[in-house]
Amino acid sequence: MPTSKTFFQCQSCGYISPKWLGKCPDCGTWNSFTEEISEATTRKIKYKQDAEKPEPFPLNSIKGELQERTKTNIKELDRALGGGIVAGSVVLIGGDPGIGKSTLLLQTLSSLSEMCKKQVLYVSGEESPEQIKLRADRLGINSEYIILFSETSVNTIMKTAQKIAPKAIVIDSIQTMYTDELISAPGSVSQVRECATKLMHFAKKTNIPVFIVGHVTKEGSIAGPRILEHIVDTVLYFEGDSGHTYRILRAVKNRFGSTNEIGVFEMSDNGLKGVENPSELFLLERPFNVSGSVVVACIEGTRPLLVEIQSLVCQTNFGMPRRTCLGVDINKVNLLIAVLEKRAGLRLGAMDIFVNVAGGIKVNEPAVDLGIISAIASSFKDTPINHKLIFFGEVGLSGEVRAVNQAELRLKEASNTGFNTAIIPIYNYENLKNNYGLKVIGVKNVYECLQNIFS
Ligand code: TYD
Ligand code: MG
Repeated sequence: MPTSKTFFQCQSCGYISPKWLGKCPDCGTWNSFTEEISEATTRKIKYKQDAEKPEPFPLNSIKGELQERTKTNIKELDRALGGGIVAGSVVLIGGDPGIGKSTLLLQTLSSLSEMCKKQVLYVSGEESPEQIKLRADRLGINSEYIILFSETSVNTIMKTAQKIAPKAIVIDSIQTMYTDELISAPGSVSQVRECATKLMHFAKKTNIPVFIVGHVTKEGSIAGPRILEHIVDTVLYFEGDSGHTYRILRAVKNRFGSTNEIGVFEMSDNGLKGVENPSELFLLERPFNVSGSVVVACIEGTRPLLVEIQSLVCQTNFGMPRRTCLGVDINKVNLLIAVLEKRAGLRLGAMDIFVNVAGGIKVNEPAVDLGIISAIASSFKDTPINHKLIFFGEVGLSGEVRAVNQAELRLKEASNTGFNTAIIPIYNYENLKNNYGLKVIGVKNVYECLQNIFS
């Protein structure tokens, strides 16, 4: 009697099918099915419940102790984590190859172990100890507290970790790990999910925080099942592009803090350095007296950030005008172009329009709408905008400018960075308590905004 059967599983969402499919009916990904053996997976993997079965109890009987957090002393990472590492938490760090995940985690472990004078465990399934040593030399790290372990079996790792009882564990990367209970290859959906679940149980049981490195697919999501993001407590994405030296660590999920919090780093010759004042960095190379360039005040998490939005509007050479965006959502830009046509009378129908956020950063806050509108209008009219002018405000379909949150924080950052005028939504203007020395203009709609800029 045959004991093992095979099935096909989508490597992107985990959908199971008895036969191979070209396109996943669940998540729509093409060519994502691989064959897996079901024999062992159907064997139930039991998680030992070492504590006796918990009883239900009323909410107010729980003592509200504050989550204890350990600061890593890497300020930008602490910020992205929401103030430090929570004991027993599992943090997933995703990002393109070569972006600096291993570097960041090695620096984190070094800083953490230096601070509490305790051992930390760096498990690498990708690099040999020699390679890690080379990197450590480059970073100027040489510590007896950092224990390197080249191992890919999760069970062995957990056993070793139990013995060492480190202050933190790094798993680099989850795609190279496997567990003996499953036959499928490391990196497959079932392995990734199973390994992550085991590590999660381990972290919760021992109260040791675990950092997991996850590779990303070409599309930019963490490879393996989406479910990985559901298992862990915190998901951080390392963003940035290879042409620039700075990196953004963005929290997209955080059970112990706010999401959308970002940490900004700069990759230098000897490792990642935190950037204290990112606004200055992003505005460093801003051209003056050029049409189509404006600065907007965004908020990322709790931190204000000034970024430059550039636009280029030129006559199209084809029947179908081109609309290209980098760093902002193209649908939003299309919508704003329509608003400009209809509500401000700019004839953009036969124009190619390009919008770019300088420095390669992504912004998706509604408050950048007014900046995008102004940049497009400025390029269309070929009239530069005063370089000490800053914008923020959401734009609606009828051309109205809507209020955004934390107006004063944005104004304060603008004032600190050397701006002297701000165009903001009228509602924010009316409720303003402090203008931080800026000349503030409140506008009701897009038309008013453009009149203020170009008069
Ligand atoms: P790495 O941490 O290996 O990336 P990941 O683990 O995300 O794949 O980062 C490697 C890149 O960073 C590599 O291109 C070299 C560069 N780098 C520096 O520029 N300076 C440094 O000090 C280090 C250690 C790496
Ligand atoms: Mg790496």
